[in-house]
Amino acid sequence: MTTEVKTEAKAGQAKPMQDRVVIFDTTLRDGEQSPGATMTHDEKLEIAGLLDEMGVDIIEAGFPIASEGDFAAVAEISKRAVNSTICGLARANFKDIDRCWEAVKHARSPRIHTFIGTSPLHRAIPNLDMDQMAERIHDTVTHARNLCDNVQWSPMDATRTEHDYLCRVVEIAIKAGATTINIPDTVGYTAPRESSRLIQMLLERVPGADTIIFATHCHNDLGMATANALAAVEAGARQIECTINGLGERAGNTALEEVVMAMKVRNDILPYRTGIDTTKIMNLSRRVASVSGFPVQFNKAIVGKNAFLHESGIHQDGVLKNVETFEIMRPEDIGLTQKNIAMGKHSGRAALRAKLKELGFELADNQLNDVFVRFKALADRKKEVYDDDLIALVADEATMDAHDTLQLKRLRVVCGTDGPQEAEMVLTIEGTDHFIDATGDGPVDAAFTCVKMLFPHRARLQLYQVHAVTEGTDAQATVSVRLEEDGRIVTGQSADTDTVVASVKAYINALNRLIVRRQKTAPGEDVKTVTYHGQ
Ligand code: KIV
Ligand code: ZN
Repeated sequence: MTTEVKTEAKAGQAKPMQDRVVIFDTTLRDGEQSPGATMTHDEKLEIAGLLDEMGVDIIEAGFPIASEGDFAAVAEISKRAVNSTICGLARANFKDIDRCWEAVKHARSPRIHTFIGTSPLHRAIPNLDMDQMAERIHDTVTHARNLCDNVQWSPMDATRTEHDYLCRVVEIAIKAGATTINIPDTVGYTAPRESSRLIQMLLERVPGADTIIFATHCHNDLGMATANALAAVEAGARQIECTINGLGERAGNTALEEVVMAMKVRNDILPYRTGIDTTKIMNLSRRVASVSGFPVQFNKAIVGKNAFLHESGIHQDGVLKNVETFEIMRPEDIGLTQKNIAMGKHSGRAALRAKLKELGFELADNQLNDVFVRFKALADRKKEVYDDDLIALVADEATMDAHDTLQLKRLRVVCGTDGPQEAEMVLTIEGTDHFIDATGDGPVDAAFTCVKMLFPHRARLQLYQVHAVTEGTDAQATVSVRLEEDGRIVTGQSADTDTVVASVKAYINALNRLIVRRQKTAPGEDVKTVTYHGQ
């Protein structure tokens, strides 16, 4: 088995890589592809900037052929990246690869990632036999390598591809110049022992396997993505593909924070290094949750709200005597500050700026002014303003734009046990105020009906989710609303101490996003409609 010393797979730059695992983040490509997780251009730039700062080795910034928006985001991220290699995804055809190169070529360190489905099920879709597919792989990897020194190739659905054929095509890709070979478990089908044996088999059987880096790319359909990725590393893979919060289609991808912290906390049995500054994890997790509209489940490993909470008496007692009794890592290691009372209504602008900085937000003066006004209003309504309240407030501020088509001006609801509930609303549409009232099955339903009557649309409500930010009846609620119209899926979010107000603002935020998407793409032209098997 050839697991000893791998080299940084970049032509002419051999660097010892023993025990160093490369972190390849695909939040902006595989994560963003998750229905409803679409991010705006500015949000993608912000997340890429944070990943770059955190020490992610490679950022897969998007799928440039998929849309003008994806292309523009990958190109801009490439221009801005300071430390990370910037990678774009391309299917196995020259047009995709050329477009990908056009976007990533601006990067200090660019990478082209090209792929084709190699399992029997995936081979059947483009209707290529084994030989034709092998030829396609040779031609496309050669083409990519003629453009860029750093080429990654993936046999999609590798874990369900016949071993002999997998060895054959991996060898072809290496000979054609691929510098990283990624082994995707596309449908989250494998298990740890099989995952490690597959890498071991490739290292043993494929000529030239010791000259490239093997990557592992796992999906979490059976809840084994983290275990499968680490098992692949133990067998010799030296790149893990992952996303923040495990964001991704279906059950998601391997979570960056899980593999990185596993290697840090259990370095005795997983003796691998990464370049990640783990104290930046929490901030990135919050930002990704906020911009994607996918909240983190409370009991999620590492970044869940409960991950460091000790409520049972036995646990609390143990933790008070010695934190190591029940805590295997320190909250500070992932950038989690103490959950003390953050601020009161007498706190000034400078104190707010300092507190936000501690929480990972550096705001421009005008943004700080807006947040300060809202903080004062919140402090008037709520007895104690906690860190989580401030985080929700900053996230909410980021969802609003003075240029939004729809803005909520006034809302009043009447509730009672002897319904129906009523809502009265003033909605500003393109600068003009419109008034309406409506009844509904509950206050949220009545208020949503007002929005629909004032701004008729065909979008279907796919998800409506409410979370309390902190404890207490005066807690702020964060609300996520996901809408679908003609295949376009958008998520809106908002926070307020009034759950109905937060709900309406989240609904309006989703509609504003939909309006922008309608302007950018005709129906059927959206990112999500570009299939992986199109040529
Ligand atoms: O899951 C997968 O197979 C992918 C490929 C495009 C690498 O995301
Ligand atoms: Zn994937």
